[in-house]
Amino acid sequence: MKRSAIAFSVLMLSVAAAAAADDPIATRKTLMDANGAAAAVSAALLKGDMDYNPTVAKAAIMTLRAVSHSYGAFFPAGSDKGNTKASPKIWEDAAGFQKELAEFQEHADAAAQAAGKNGPADLAAFKAAVTPIFDDCKDCHQNYRLK
Ligand code: HEC
Repeated sequence: MKRSAIAFSVLMLSVAAAAAADDPIATRKTLMDANGAAAAVSAALLKGDMDYNPTVAKAAIMTLRAVSHSYGAFFPAGSDKGNTKASPKIWEDAAGFQKELAEFQEHADAAAQAAGKNGPADLAAFKAAVTPIFDDCKDCHQNYRLK
């Protein structure tokens, strides 16, 4: 697959996610799947499986950022039941969950800022921008996602 096609499909995932607002559990999973796709592209760049390309890197960052700003809207009361791995702690400790979300948004905003108009200049700049975001994935999953 051409690199531009990969970047495009990642962006399309997040657009599709934003449109599917009627089922909060399905929507938040779709958003997290977009996160997963952006993480996979990022890992391919970081490991050198894919040649570094600032446009692709920026697309991954912008996908993560879009998810960080929309994700919190899909946890209405009662959506702890059903086909979900969301931990009951999300509702029991709403402030703690909000804090994880805020960190994710803050790091994604900073990465977008660092990416500038044309994307992070090189792999080192990309790595510095996304590493705090990927730490947030682990933190939130450890505390607020069921195994
Ligand atoms: C603020 C908390 C939080 C952050 C940050 C977070 N996640 Fe998640 N993630 C969750 C929760 C909660 C679920 C379970 C959602 C459900 O099943 O309803 C989940 C589920 C997932 C899933 C499974 C989706 C599915 O189809 O069931 C993937 C993949 C995923 N996350 C990837 C990521 C990646 C990659 C990152 C970091 C870029 C990330 N997540 C950051 C809370 C978070």
